[in-house]
Amino acid sequence: MKLTNEIEWISETNFRVGGQQFISDLESQQLRTSNEQVVVLKTATMLRHYLDFFLPHSIDNMIELGIWQGGSPLFFGLTTDIKKIVALDQIRPDPAPADASPELGMFYRNPAVIELIERHRLGTRVRPYFGYQQDDRAGLETIIADEFGDAPLDLVIDDASHQYEQTRRSFEILFPRLRQGGLYIIEDWQWAHMDVAAYQDGSKWGDRPALTNFIFELLMAYGSHSDLFWNIVVRDWFVSLQKGSFPCPEPFRIDEAIRARGKSLWLI
Ligand SMILES: C[S@@+](CC[C@H](N)C(=O)[O-])C[C@H]1O[C@@H](n2cnc3c(N)ncnc32)[C@H](O)[C@@H]1O
Repeated sequence: MKLTNEIEWISETNFRVGGQQFISDLESQQLRTSNEQVVVLKTATMLRHYLDFFLPHSIDNMIELGIWQGGSPLFFGLTTDIKKIVALDQIRPDPAPADASPELGMFYRNPAVIELIERHRLGTRVRPYFGYQQDDRAGLETIIADEFGDAPLDLVIDDASHQYEQTRRSFEILFPRLRQGGLYIIEDWQWAHMDVAAYQDGSKWGDRPALTNFIFELLMAYGSHSDLFWNIVVRDWFVSLQKGSFPCPEPFRIDEAIRARGKSLWLI
């Protein structure tokens, strides 16, 4: 992957690419992309981590699960030579009704995202799909066939639900579509361990299994099949799995790839 545009890093939450203003909104998650600014849910540091991490790799075809306000696909579209960036979200594909509250409006497609893609002439490279669940096998297969044909994927970023079951199902659908050496990234694997009151007192996702359970399973699968991954890289906010030569059966199920002497883990 190459950088194609200079990035002006102004602060942790504020940066510009080719005259386009970006604002990082991890804190409030209330800001909307407008004609003036693109909202992204990654800080400048996180985006710099990603660029450093991806630069040595050959990346033509990428899918990101989780669009929100379009910041991430627009950022990669404007800063890199990635040929196609397909992004998918459960957000409703129609624009919000005129009487929708700002909060409700966040769950409808933001027309500014599409306008910015057009304005920057990214329409053939940045391809957002709204109204899809991240684990919708038929939907994902149709999108992949339409956008990539038989070409394999080079990069998948899962920044959607961060839930154990859905993240696992997306992996089972998309990992077999990666080329050998391609990267599968799972963001925010650490949410259950963060020093954030809502996670630790259980008021947010207290009744749900931690995403960490899936990371444990991936490790056990790697122990069972050394050719499943070339490597697993664990960073504080993402895990990267580089695909090995293991021939993934169809359908691919991670629990069938784990040898564990007949024992199973409790979910934390
Ligand atoms: C963290 S935001 C994505 C941020 C974006 N990648 C960025 O960096 O700016 C997560 C998004 O995932 C979407 N999402 C949550 N659960 C989902 C699911 N099961 N299927 C598809 N999208 C989902 C949400 O609607 C939200 O827009």
